[in-house]
Amino acid sequence: MSSVMSGRRQAARRAAPSLSAEAFAADVVAGLTAKPKRLPPKYFYDAAGSALFDQITRLPEYYPTRCELALLTDNAPAMAAPFPPGCAVIEFGSGSSRKARILLGAAATVEAYVPIDISGEFLQGDAAQLRRDLPLLAVHPIVADFTSAADLPAAIAAMPRVGFFPGSTIGNFEPYEAAGFLRHVGRMLGAGSLFVVGVDLVKASDVLYRAYNDAEGITAKFNLNLLARINRELGADFDLAAFEHHACYNAERSRIEMHLASTRRQKARFCGVAVEFRAGETIHTENSYKYSIDSFQALARGSGWSPLKAWSDGLFSIHALRRAEDR
Ligand code: AVJ
Repeated sequence: MSSVMSGRRQAARRAAPSLSAEAFAADVVAGLTAKPKRLPPKYFYDAAGSALFDQITRLPEYYPTRCELALLTDNAPAMAAPFPPGCAVIEFGSGSSRKARILLGAAATVEAYVPIDISGEFLQGDAAQLRRDLPLLAVHPIVADFTSAADLPAAIAAMPRVGFFPGSTIGNFEPYEAAGFLRHVGRMLGAGSLFVVGVDLVKASDVLYRAYNDAEGITAKFNLNLLARINRELGADFDLAAFEHHACYNAERSRIEMHLASTRRQKARFCGVAVEFRAGETIHTENSYKYSIDSFQALARGSGWSPLKAWSDGLFSIHALRRAEDR
């Protein structure tokens, strides 16, 4: 994702060492004994999976990252225009802060930046680099799972807040979960806050299909790495050659679904559990919900936010929201 970072460093950054092996094992057992079988997408991002995701963001078919970076570059001054003087920008799942740098570079009124990321490994180093590049900015990193983080640093207690949630990561949530997250952020940021959110758009199904079924097969490797990771970390015996990557657009629910399909009847063992697969049976590994400008604005309105403006190139969108007044 970042041009200034090596792939390996990027990979290590996205890995989540603070998620314990026990939690991983428990989630895998629960997901693979459920009907239908499923696995949480957050486990895609170990070192190998993060390196593969970095490759995905540069694929010709995978437009979201390129589109969002261009929208940010072209419109950052307009996005920053309503930021209140002396505000703090809080980013959810900040990674390398590459996208925030574009926004912060155009927002002279921002006094503090709070990147929240589960991977603490590089958060301090990146914060130091950001302080050197933007010496007037106070940087207060928080190592936490952004879905549950609730406490902001005392240093920004008196500052007006702007949230930043790029990448269309919101698409991994079920719509009711996305609404819950929007409400949570509204409570966390407080009265008068703003929220800038990147959201992938509903579009022709062939464009969506190609973005998740790239010709090089990188997305397939990314998906299959989940089973490879379970083999590596939980001592499982999944036969990777007997599973294939399936990604399809579910138009009725406006979401890309990724699955791993068993090509034959088989059994896999791990953590003292044996799991059986029918030929063709799948593990549902990810949903990536797509919204129209209107459907996302409706979701935001229903979750305590008033849409201010949306920027779009027809493929991807970035929304500016203002917290609706409490009544
Ligand atoms: C990082 C969740 C936004 O849904 O497009 C890319 C992940 N999965 N290719 C997405 C992903 C397959 C990506 N998000």
